[in-house]
Amino acid sequence: MKKILITGGAGFIGSHLVRLFVHKYPDYFITNLDALTYAGNLENLTDIENSPNYAFVKGDITDESFVEALFEEKKFDAVIHLAAESHVDRSILDPMSFVKTNVLGTGVLLNAAKKNWTDLSNKLFYHVSTDEVYGSLGEVGFFTETTPYDPRSPYSASKASSDHLVRAYHHTYNLPVVVSNCSNNYGSHQFPEKLLPLMINNIMHSKPLPVYGKGENVRDWLWVEDHARAIDIIFHKGIVGETYNIGGFNEWKNIDIVHLLCRIMDKKLNRAEGESEKLITYVKDRAGHDKRYAIDATKLEKELGWSPSLQFEEGLEKTIDWYLANETWVSRITSGSYKQYYDQQYTKR
Ligand code: NAD
Ligand code: TYD
Repeated sequence: MKKILITGGAGFIGSHLVRLFVHKYPDYFITNLDALTYAGNLENLTDIENSPNYAFVKGDITDESFVEALFEEKKFDAVIHLAAESHVDRSILDPMSFVKTNVLGTGVLLNAAKKNWTDLSNKLFYHVSTDEVYGSLGEVGFFTETTPYDPRSPYSASKASSDHLVRAYHHTYNLPVVVSNCSNNYGSHQFPEKLLPLMINNIMHSKPLPVYGKGENVRDWLWVEDHARAIDIIFHKGIVGETYNIGGFNEWKNIDIVHLLCRIMDKKLNRAEGESEKLITYVKDRAGHDKRYAIDATKLEKELGWSPSLQFEEGLEKTIDWYLANETWVSRITSGSYKQYYDQQYTKR
């Protein structure tokens, strides 16, 4: 049985990936290591928590002795590393926690793998990263795998550092690694402080919709389950030492997305046309706000046969429907009460 460590599996993307692997690969044993920060929520995984090929371990990737003991005990064959501080706005308020988790934490995992993997055959350290490491684009052009790094926020700088460390362990110690850099994800279970869930939640509750600056910044949006599928394909078919960009070929100005959400949700909530748009409020721009991200995912499409499965409007509908049907999930997060779940489920075991 292949033993795989997924870090950050209680977060947004991680929980989709853990679910995919647990269901699709009954002959893999998946260990989900997550510190359950504000962004980690085991309620995202209640449907698989008793699966025979799954275990959750609460722990911090920056805790060197704990991580090394875990590697020694579990004898992992592969790591898929998603654990991170992931929100640009939080990185502006508290950059050092990003340096700690994203840089130091990645270093600790790499060291543990290097120490424990005396035989490197059939081992893989898969590092999940972001397109934000490439910096900010003007009106035209795309990020490719060879675009020079130019990170501009504490978040993207910390992710860029972690990417470099991963590649350095490959070049220096032959650690088998693969890296993917993905564009903005959207879908169910996203913590409601990122753009889409925040706007959906605020429209539901008729609260102001805070658009940074003029709302003209552009992001390329990908459905989270398409990202999880891409990771699955790269994990199994990607070439060691390579980097793969993942994106939706789906660029949107923030303000256009907010208008679209308002239109769809007015219909779903039986509101008069234009009612939710009145909630749009332009607020002070984010410091150092990157203008445009756009991914060229041709390498992944051509070499490994991946392509996005959902059109944006369809994915958005699914996402909105999920948030409308799961108001309790959001209210438990906004009240902080989701954190009690771990104690109820795990501390008495
Ligand atoms: P998230 O913030 O929803 O989840 C991060 C998870 O990591 C949480 O469960 C959290 O508890 C855990 N974590 C944080 N610090 C930890 C630590 N010190 N030790 C152990 N666990 C810790 O993030 P996400 O949006 O799911 O992103 C997952 C990964 O994908 C990140 O590495 C991020 O950089 C990358 N990524 C995200 C996007 C996106 O649009 N969300 C796009 C591209 C790449
Ligand atoms: P975000 O979801 O934080 O992702 P990222 O910064 O990693 O791209 O933000 C997406 C875009 O939406 C970004 O240009 C900032 C903007 N934004 C707003 O205009 N208002 C908001 O309240 C938030 C959270 C983001």
